[in-house]
Amino acid sequence: MTQPSAEQYVESLLTRDEQLEQVKAGIRSRNMPEISIAPGYGKLLTLLVKMTGAKRILEIGALGGYSGICLTRGLGDGGKLISLELKQEYADVAHQHLINAGLGDKVEYRIGEALPHLQQLEDEGQKFDAFFIDADKGNYPNYLEFAIRLANPGAIILGDNALMHGRAMDEKQQGNAVTKMRQFNASMASDPRLEGVILPAYDGLAIARVR
Ligand code: DHB
Ligand code: MG
Repeated sequence: MTQPSAEQYVESLLTRDEQLEQVKAGIRSRNMPEISIAPGYGKLLTLLVKMTGAKRILEIGALGGYSGICLTRGLGDGGKLISLELKQEYADVAHQHLINAGLGDKVEYRIGEALPHLQQLEDEGQKFDAFFIDADKGNYPNYLEFAIRLANPGAIILGDNALMHGRAMDEKQQGNAVTKMRQFNASMASDPRLEGVILPAYDGLAIARVR
């Protein structure tokens, strides 16, 4: 018998999560991409929202609502998640999954390209305590700049897929998405406006706090 990987071992300690299993089943049954965040990172999102006391969260990329449930679970009474999603169809699926999880009243979806919505949120004077970036990789540096502008002091910023299946550290890879991810990772780790680190498990998760 082969030994489990570190990730398999740690996952085996987590209790089965019926709401998140339903999200995965809903994504699969609709032939949507099966690229929700890893279970351990989902748990981490909930914990970080709770530990920081974040009240207003902005998510960029909803997909089927897996990360949306994890983020929203961390919110106390009166907390709110605004989730930007390119596709109406995905936002509808995500919304249904949050409703099923009893979290539907805490979330607002805005549909379409994220950058104009981010400009709109800035124009509205909206501020957030936590950000989760999990959308088109070529725009991660743009999303980060908006997150910093929309951040309350001490806000946390998280970015999924920092490693891009290993392409981030493969110098032969020079496409736009991976180049922009390297730029994003470098900023998350050492931009003077941030204090951050990259977790290398699964596909990598970048975490920073806005100074
Ligand atoms: C992939 C995974 C992701 O989590 C994502 O946001 C985009 C793409 C992938 O495995 O291709
Ligand atoms: Mg992702």
